Amino acid sequence: MLDHLKSNNRLWAERKVAADPGFFKRLEGQQAPDYLWIGCSDSRVPANEIVGLDPGELFVHRNVANLAPPQDANYLSVLQFAVDVLKVKHILVVGHYGCGGVAAAVDGQRRGLVDHWLHPIREIHHEHRHELESIPDDACRLERLCELNVMRQVRNVASDVFVTDAWARGQPIQVHGWVYSIANGHVTDLNVSVCGPE
Ligand code: CO
Repeated sequence: MLDHLKSNNRLWAERKVAADPGFFKRLEGQQAPDYLWIGCSDSRVPANEIVGLDPGELFVHRNVANLAPPQDANYLSVLQFAVDVLKVKHILVVGHYGCGGVAAAVDGQRRGLVDHWLHPIREIHHEHRHELESIPDDACRLERLCELNVMRQVRNVASDVFVTDAWARGQPIQVHGWVYSIANGHVTDLNVSVCGPE
């Protein structure tokens, strides 16, 4: 079953060792990534590839619509491990244009459990409704909502107690908001980086 994936795996491992014989031995010791990536589960947004990082260099958390909900035990476990144990220097919240999750949050259709998951996006949509309603083009309005969602998740991460406690200890952490374009592969920095409580 899935033989093509298994043979892909062996070829990938062989190429890694051919380029760097100590590659897997080194990673076996421990991981020491400088970055935590919080991104969308979308298959078109492969975290490591986009920023050219190898295994061991990027700690990754992905979910539908790249949310950082302050009550989500999965995200919080990842965040605490990244901050307290790995001591990452940067946390990247990376949204993407054309996000199906963001679109589904506000299209009025009912899908089930995911409607609950996406609830924070409807709140963001409501809070920014005046700005959003002033954008006549549907696609542009959703793109802006993708950006606003990233900004809110940056705020969630930066105001989380794991992060604010780390800052209080003098541990350097920067939280960044990026948005990725599936159309051209480029990330755009939304310039909402936070490096301290103030
Ligand atoms: Co998405």
